[in-house]
Amino acid sequence: MKYTILGIETSCDETAAAIYTTEQGVLSNELFSQVDLHALYGGVVPEIASRSHMEKIHPIVESALLKAHTSLDDVDAVAVTSKPGLPGSLLVGLSFGKALAWASGKKLIGINHLEGHVFSACIEHAIPFPFACLTASGGHTALYRVKNFGDYELLGQTLDDAAGEAFDKIAKLMNLPYPGGPIIEKLAQEAKFQDVFSYPRPMKHSLNFSFSGLKTAVLYDMVKRGAYDLKAKCFLKDDDLEFKQKVASSLLVCVADIFENKLLMVFKEYPTTEAVVFVGGVACNNYLRERLKNFATKHGKQFFVPSRQYCTDNGAMIAFVGHYKAQQNKYSPWTLDLFE
Ligand code: KG4
Ligand code: ZN
Repeated sequence: MKYTILGIETSCDETAAAIYTTEQGVLSNELFSQVDLHALYGGVVPEIASRSHMEKIHPIVESALLKAHTSLDDVDAVAVTSKPGLPGSLLVGLSFGKALAWASGKKLIGINHLEGHVFSACIEHAIPFPFACLTASGGHTALYRVKNFGDYELLGQTLDDAAGEAFDKIAKLMNLPYPGGPIIEKLAQEAKFQDVFSYPRPMKHSLNFSFSGLKTAVLYDMVKRGAYDLKAKCFLKDDDLEFKQKVASSLLVCVADIFENKLLMVFKEYPTTEAVVFVGGVACNNYLRERLKNFATKHGKQFFVPSRQYCTDNGAMIAFVGHYKAQQNKYSPWTLDLFE
């Protein structure tokens, strides 16, 4: 059967909508990023996020239909993120998606945002199963074993902060703007990705992660080097670009080592793993992409990352998952609620 799916995503700070069809794949992928609204506060402010979603959801969905040269009449089902995420943000997309589907007589498909990320690289690549998927964003960091479309198992996840969150928080410690990830990458490049400060690699023998521990280790290392005043909560090396470059570089190398170590554990435990897939906002990072690609290749695994527009939150990955769920006849009831 052929389907046209409208995907809607509002779980955090991006209002996104996309059209995916069986024959032509992604026809449109529209997005309003709230990053500038939250930059002032150094992180996502939930109330501001949900208010902005309310303003943007209608124009973004309209724009997705327009850019795809399609109309609601051609859509077979509305796929919308129902979990996990900020409740107020999710509620806007879910209510809009449900109302739209109900009013226009379309089917409804509730999507797990993380399933969207896990399969985001499949939009552009035919990836062999089973693959190991490392999802790293500002809200989540997890490892999955993926056996087929919709068939996946969680192997490990962060017990506290996400990897992107660690970049954001460490950048904030050094008075750098939000989001921290891209700036950390730029600074690290200047220090030639050298492991100057050798931060600890926590949880070496587990498939879980702890990035809050890493953040604290970086903070105490800064205190030890006279770069941070704990009592005054004040960074003391604002003018020392070289120091910031060294922190960023050591941090990136450390995170790459942590990721490689987890993947190695997965390869040992699941030798049939065919490929490594790296997704989420942190997968925009060129250094991490390169490190993980070389690592996977060295171990005889194929390696895939989505293009950047599908790494960060987007509607296309929600429409894509909605598409295979439609093929599997897995629709949601009208009672679909938040977090279901
Ligand atoms: O997937 P995403 O857009 O939103 C969430 O679901 O969180 O990911 C945003 C996260 C932020 O923490 C940001 O710092 C990080 O991805 N990020 C990066 C890079 N670009 C974005 N981290 C490292 N290097 C980058 N180039
Ligand atoms: Zn996400």
